[in-house]
Amino acid sequence: MCGIVGYIGREEAAPILLEGLSRLEYRGYDSAGIAVWSREDGLRVVKAKGRLQVLSDLVHGGADVHGTVGLGHTRWATHGEPSDVNAHPQVSGDGRFAVVHNGIIENYVEIREVLEAKGVKFTSQTDTEVVAHLLEYYYRGDVMEALTKVLHRVEGAYALGVICADCPDQLIAARKDSPLILGYGDGFNFLASDVTAVIKYTRDVCYLDDGEIAVLTRDGIQVYSHPYLLPVEKEHHQVNWEISAAEKGGYEHFMMKEIMEQPKAFRDTISPRIQNGRVVLEGLDIGEEFLGDMDRLYIIACGSSYHVGMAAKYTLERLLRKSVEVTLASEFRYCDPIVTDKTLALVISQSGETIDTLAALREARRLGARVLSIVNVVGSTIARESDDVLYTWAGPEIAVATTKAYSTQLAVVYLIGLYFAQKLGTIGREEYTGILDELQRIPDKIQRILERKEEIQYAASLYFNHASIFFIGRNIDYAVGMEGSLKLKEISYIHSEAYAAGELKHGTISLIEPGTLVVALASYGKLFEKLMSNVVEVKSRGADILGLTTESRKADMEKTADHVFAVPDTHPMLLPSLDVVPLQLFAYYVALMRGCDIDKPRNLAKSVTVE
Ligand code: M6R
Repeated sequence: MCGIVGYIGREEAAPILLEGLSRLEYRGYDSAGIAVWSREDGLRVVKAKGRLQVLSDLVHGGADVHGTVGLGHTRWATHGEPSDVNAHPQVSGDGRFAVVHNGIIENYVEIREVLEAKGVKFTSQTDTEVVAHLLEYYYRGDVMEALTKVLHRVEGAYALGVICADCPDQLIAARKDSPLILGYGDGFNFLASDVTAVIKYTRDVCYLDDGEIAVLTRDGIQVYSHPYLLPVEKEHHQVNWEISAAEKGGYEHFMMKEIMEQPKAFRDTISPRIQNGRVVLEGLDIGEEFLGDMDRLYIIACGSSYHVGMAAKYTLERLLRKSVEVTLASEFRYCDPIVTDKTLALVISQSGETIDTLAALREARRLGARVLSIVNVVGSTIARESDDVLYTWAGPEIAVATTKAYSTQLAVVYLIGLYFAQKLGTIGREEYTGILDELQRIPDKIQRILERKEEIQYAASLYFNHASIFFIGRNIDYAVGMEGSLKLKEISYIHSEAYAAGELKHGTISLIEPGTLVVALASYGKLFEKLMSNVVEVKSRGADILGLTTESRKADMEKTADHVFAVPDTHPMLLPSLDVVPLQLFAYYVALMRGCDIDKPRNLAKSVTVE
């Protein structure tokens, strides 16, 4: 989704803005622009469709644009095609205001009609342009007054950055339902969509809340609440990761770097939470009483986080003996869900900013549920709006295709399962200790898989040209197959679907023909034979079979499958953590062999902040 960076200081702004935008590239975009003010040139706006490099070349890395205050933006098109004119900043008719925006102004059509009737000329198809023209319309010499009126008039979601040529010693930011952070420096200050854009310059940040407006000058930042402009004292946070965590570190792609980081990320997530042979979840304030009375457990998420939820359902139902409903966040809020004050909503989100998930969280809370979230980005909106939050200590995840966040979300699910099961008394001491011990061996087992990545690379070389790929599995193998299929399709653009293997014969098997690739997941030992029956069914219709199982069943599977990769044996509940790794690698190598843009797949954004 769109990325925003704003700088006010004593250095030339343009190179800093371009650098900041390059750190936000991972969010997904299709055009970019900057606006910089200087006494000589006034407000200078340069925008370009395509990669940031195109914009950077236009201004020679920023050397052609002078001034020490400015805004930058990467646009992920929603209203209006990707083009130079639709790129941000959008500018008011009189050239006084430049605006960058992330979100959607939902009533922009109506506002545009009103303004056009008054003679205002629009140049873009964007919803954002109404903000620039409205600022001009309401402006009587006081920018804050004009902005307050604009915010009163617009509906929808926004993170806004505004610069006014009449007040070039300040930048203004406003937020509702789209993320925005402020970065504090010595003689300079920043606004940005996330901390990656500013961490090179400062670790001292705060998170703007909904309904807040910030005024940034070189010497400070003042935050106000909308609409009465009452001053707000913001809590500062120190970012505790190094900038190298958001760099490729010698890898060709962030995705491979992040795949390789999984043993460490998994270990970092579980180790501090296992003390003296017990799971300790600091800050989690859910006791026996609530758990005992809990009438429903919803898991709410999108995309890969939803797939974690699918695996979690099998785990949590088994451990807690309570029924678990996994719901897509985009469906939850519109399905009239049955929620009471005894309901627990487990919300899963890497970014903590996914708008569908956030909206579902708010709906669940409105209806009385208690919300426990699993989030990677510290201080994100979902984390802040939850009753309890457990962070995945995966570090920044830059590649659009999630890998280490998926793995660490699963790790937290296991911890929650054991913790709740112990409180509920649904697990015996021996089983508890057995699972916990095995959980601590998972990072090493992931490492062993990663050391054999060339085997997956070879399998990818056999199948990267297939037009259609099915993933089949049963129970948790089915849940992992869903993730394997999504990973493959999002970065390689191969059509792919995941099926519960037993469901094939109810329709989908008609699509199997000679040359179709079926990735068969048969790691869940209890259902190995059943799964292999489905493998025989598709093989006899001409499918190529790439099998995934455990080391102890490899020889059995090789009797039928064309090619088999085996993961180390582990406790059945923990299998998804191992199975997913070869599937991530398979997607990566297939995409690489097809020449795809792995870290920035077409049409996708890292953090989906519009509905
Ligand atoms: O940040 P979130 O976990 O809320 O994101 C949810 C999905 O958008 C995300 O998992 C998406 O499906 C990934 N691109 C998958 O790799």
